[in-house]
Amino acid sequence: MKQKRIGFATRMGAIAATVGSAVGLGNIWRFPYQAGENGGGAYILVYLICVLLLGIPIMMSEFVIGRSTHKSMKGAVEELTPGSPFKLFAYIGVLGGLLICGYYCVVCGWVIEYLWSSASGNLLGHTPEEYSNIFSTFVSSPWRCVMWTLLFLILNFLVLNRGVEKGIERIASFMMPLLFLLLIVFCVNSLLLPDSDEGMEFLFDVDFDDLGWKGVVDAMGQAFMSLSLGVTCLITYSSYFKDDSNLMKDAVTISGLDTLVAILAGIVIFPAVFSFGLEPNAGPKLIFEILPTIFQQMPGGTIWATLFFLLLFFASITSTISLSEIPITFMIDEYKISRGKAIAITAVLMTIIAVLSALSFSTLSDVKLLGRNLFDFLDFVGPNFFMLLGGLVTAIYVGWVLKKDVIHEQLTNGGMHRSRFVQPYIIFSLRYIAPVAIVIIFLYYVGII
Ligand code: PFF
Repeated sequence: MKQKRIGFATRMGAIAATVGSAVGLGNIWRFPYQAGENGGGAYILVYLICVLLLGIPIMMSEFVIGRSTHKSMKGAVEELTPGSPFKLFAYIGVLGGLLICGYYCVVCGWVIEYLWSSASGNLLGHTPEEYSNIFSTFVSSPWRCVMWTLLFLILNFLVLNRGVEKGIERIASFMMPLLFLLLIVFCVNSLLLPDSDEGMEFLFDVDFDDLGWKGVVDAMGQAFMSLSLGVTCLITYSSYFKDDSNLMKDAVTISGLDTLVAILAGIVIFPAVFSFGLEPNAGPKLIFEILPTIFQQMPGGTIWATLFFLLLFFASITSTISLSEIPITFMIDEYKISRGKAIAITAVLMTIIAVLSALSFSTLSDVKLLGRNLFDFLDFVGPNFFMLLGGLVTAIYVGWVLKKDVIHEQLTNGGMHRSRFVQPYIIFSLRYIAPVAIVIIFLYYVGII
């Protein structure tokens, strides 16, 4: 018996919301800074391979679990394979979702600071070095960071309180195309900068000497982060999909769009980095140093900056909404509590993690976990541990445990769509490629490789 759930009003709405979940700070903030830290071209190549070999198959398997049952992870596993211990991995998703959203909201707070300062006309008019100092001064101010993070959290939970359908769908449907257009304009602008070819070489010339194992781990974690995989988010979202949606096509479209946005962000950032003589390996502050410098030399820079940070804000909130939905839907399905109560509990937990992370560059900068401050620690373990572990479990569950007819039924909608190559490819990846690749990464962590 299928449980009655809130559905997205249109198929496009559900897909747009899933694109909204995938496209966010992961593409525009995290991808460029990680590519910059890991030497560019080779990292990007490994990233693309991870999207193809692991990302798309795992995305499809999350869709299969969610759409076939219209439930979130734990309930879905109980329905599909009663008594299976795999349902316990729903807790990885809930914990991973809370931790990732906790530190992610801090970056959303940075976006609001930059939006505020562009809209009030104060962002532009500095040298690249000054932008680096402006960012450092900002993040080391506890109250400013915490204030913007809290403001972001309030907005996030207000949208959630209005319900999946109204809140997410409306935002996701109009902002994505605009953001995309804006990125294209910025790409053209960056490519016209003097010495932009150096940046393009950095992005697309593959030199494995620059990569190393760390780069491979980062690229794999980033592919999961960018596609929202491994924390059951897409299981939750696809539990809202209509029964006639084409899961194969949707997964390929969503992954393709998401990857395109990341690459476009790279083309905006790196030609400018080299043109202005800056360092590509600035870490998490990279885009906050470069973007103002880019906007500055564009005619009408303040308007471009304001529009961009506004759209980036929307892209971020559609991602945090989807992250917040993981614990919310879990609590509703599991403990049968009201949506309001589930939202309130999630809000309290996330606020605690977010405030602590926001203080990582100031009051709590001496608190180190694995040699990193709390923010950097969560930015590392979220994608590189929780998401990969969740991805491993999902791959094993769908590849080895779930009945083939469920996969076939879901991917082809009962034989309506052909899947002569896709299905064997997906199954092969889930059975062998994804588990082996992720286990190798874990062996690297524990020092065996
Ligand atoms: N994919 C989002 C991004 O690239 O910004 C982040 C994210 C959203 C990760 C939802 C995980 C998730 F469940």
